[in-house]
Amino acid sequence: MKVFITGASSGIGEALAYEYAKRYQNENTIIGLAARRSEHLQLLQQTLEACYNIKCAIYPLDVRDSAVLVAAANEFIQQYGAPNIVIGSAGVSSGTLTEYAEDTNAFQAVMDINVTGLVNTFQPFINAMRLAAQRGETAQLVGIASVAGIRGLPGAGAYSASKAAAIAYLESLRVEMLHHNIAITTIAPGYIRTPMTDINTYKMPFLMDADIAAHKFVNAIERKKRFVVIPWQMGWVARLMRLIPPVLWDFLAKNAPHKPRIDVQ
Ligand SMILES: NC(=O)c1ccc[n+]([C@@H]2O[C@H](COP(=O)([O-])OP(=O)(O)OC[C@H]3O[C@@H](n4cnc5c(N)ncnc54)[C@H](OP(=O)(O)O)[C@@H]3O)[C@@H](O)[C@H]2O)c1
Repeated sequence: MKVFITGASSGIGEALAYEYAKRYQNENTIIGLAARRSEHLQLLQQTLEACYNIKCAIYPLDVRDSAVLVAAANEFIQQYGAPNIVIGSAGVSSGTLTEYAEDTNAFQAVMDINVTGLVNTFQPFINAMRLAAQRGETAQLVGIASVAGIRGLPGAGAYSASKAAAIAYLESLRVEMLHHNIAITTIAPGYIRTPMTDINTYKMPFLMDADIAAHKFVNAIERKKRFVVIPWQMGWVARLMRLIPPVLWDFLAKNAPHKPRIDVQ
């Protein structure tokens, strides 16, 4: 099993690395770990290699930089061959309010990381994965979107817009990749306990621990689900959110708690 994961230094990406290491504990398993904080990646690499008899390769990078992703993908492919699975989990979430000029930079950063970052992650792997799929190998691209992309959440315009864009982009890609036999899975998590949600002061319904979520995500990936909401209870919330007419949405959402506005680097 060969997996390449962005956002591997924390939260969902890190939990996914643990889940793959546990599931595929053998010397043929290679996990590529990418994120900006190299010391976190090094620690994770040491722990996974020591505990699970697998190999990890680390790629300290910013997903906004397409050139470094091309270099990382080329290095991974040269050393280990095409990955079976590439997971784009790198993402940021900050509350934004368009009425404040100082939030414009945060808006741009959220879009760049959560949307263009996904494109930058997948693009350099596609050709090698297409060839691997022709040889009968598994080839799958996985994007971590969010239930926040189903409707526009107040106070989170950038995050909701970025995740709506991610969902639409991944759907386009899914159809484009059909003739290459590369499967696309969109995962829309509800609330998962990670540093991203630790700063939320409001109640988070159906909050799920990251290790349990990662187990369910990998099950969905292995079933080659096209689109899945996890936990399942949030799947019903997402279905309802889609059906609500705008006038009712305004009424229901107007008093919703806002995510804290933080500086996004
Ligand atoms: N937690 C939830 O409830 C939830 C719900 C729905 C969707 N999601 C999505 O799940 C994904 C993972 O979130 P999480 O909860 O695991 O948050 P997290 O613990 O804050 O992890 C975010 C990860 O993304 C990486 N990252 C951020 N900006 C990056 C950049 N410019 N370049 C490279 N890596 C970058 C971070 O690493 P570095 O800082 O080291 O770069 C970190 O590894 C995100 O896409 C998020 O939107 C989360």
